[in-house]
Amino acid sequence: MYKANSLKHFISVLLLMIMALAFSGSASADYASSCAGCHSPLASSNKKGSSASKIKSAIVSNMGGMGSLSGLSDVALNAIAVELGGSANLSVTPPPVVCTSPQVRDVATNTCVTPACPTGQVRNAAGVCAAIPVTCTSPQVRDVATNTCVTPACPTGQVRNAAGVCEVTVTPVTCTLPKVLNTTTNACETPACPTGQVRNAAGVCEVTVTPVTCTLPKVLNTTTNACETPACPTGQVQVKILTKTLNTKRMSMKKGMALNLISHSLVNWLSMPRKFFDWV
Ligand code: HEC
Repeated sequence: MYKANSLKHFISVLLLMIMALAFSGSASADYASSCAGCHSPLASSNKKGSSASKIKSAIVSNMGGMGSLSGLSDVALNAIAVELGGSANLSVTPPPVVCTSPQVRDVATNTCVTPACPTGQVRNAAGVCAAIPVTCTSPQVRDVATNTCVTPACPTGQVRNAAGVCEVTVTPVTCTLPKVLNTTTNACETPACPTGQVRNAAGVCEVTVTPVTCTLPKVLNTTTNACETPACPTGQVQVKILTKTLNTKRMSMKKGMALNLISHSLVNWLSMPRKFFDWV
């Protein structure tokens, strides 16, 4: 019987120790060790419903010798008050929040905030402050690594033209003058002549001239634009018919007779060289 009782007692003590260990630092353990001796165990405490501030002021004023409990923190007193069914009304400093990069703790508010980037930088998608991305004008594009505008290479077989557009390369055709290459169409074209000029048969631009009017027997030389007397066929010579002289000739003979005489003389004269050469 005694043995059994002592075993029970031992087990009880052991359990209490285990519980004390288990609740060590907890509010109920604090109450048991700091208050129960004067105010009965928690379940039957005569200070039920006490607020933390009331307990603290009793400690500060050393009520009933409670000044010895000044080592209890506000956090512990709040917890004891909760155990007693009272208000945990002592303001305590919350533990500093732990922030994850790039966020940092704002001491004033004890919250995690993302700090502003240095001037000229912005936070990128990865949360890292980096230089403000440059704005590039087409065809240039931004090179992310260097944050500069670069002109990308054209696809194989293409070259960038003056307008900055990649184009399929073409071998320019060879043109023969006066035709010249139209670089847009890659075709040979005859360019227009300057104002006042026309392209002649040789393909050369020449100043246009108004052909002079020639009076027979003179005819136009198109090369020199001058009136010239053409050479007579072989065996012929040019004669000047003096019609005007005939009309005004102070001769008593009729015009018809005079013309007949003249023409006869002419014919005789014209045929003379041939007769002469025939004779020779
Ligand atoms: C050494 C004994 C002793 C201890 C230990 C002790 N008290 Fe007290 N306490 C007293 C006495 C004596 C009074 C004054 C009479 C009363 O109000 O019961 C008192 C008063 C109080 C009051 C009333 C204060 C008021 O303004 O009316 C509260 C609440 C209280 N104690 C809570 C506690 C708590 C909680 C603990 C443990 C942390 C504790 N006491 C520890 C002895 C003690």
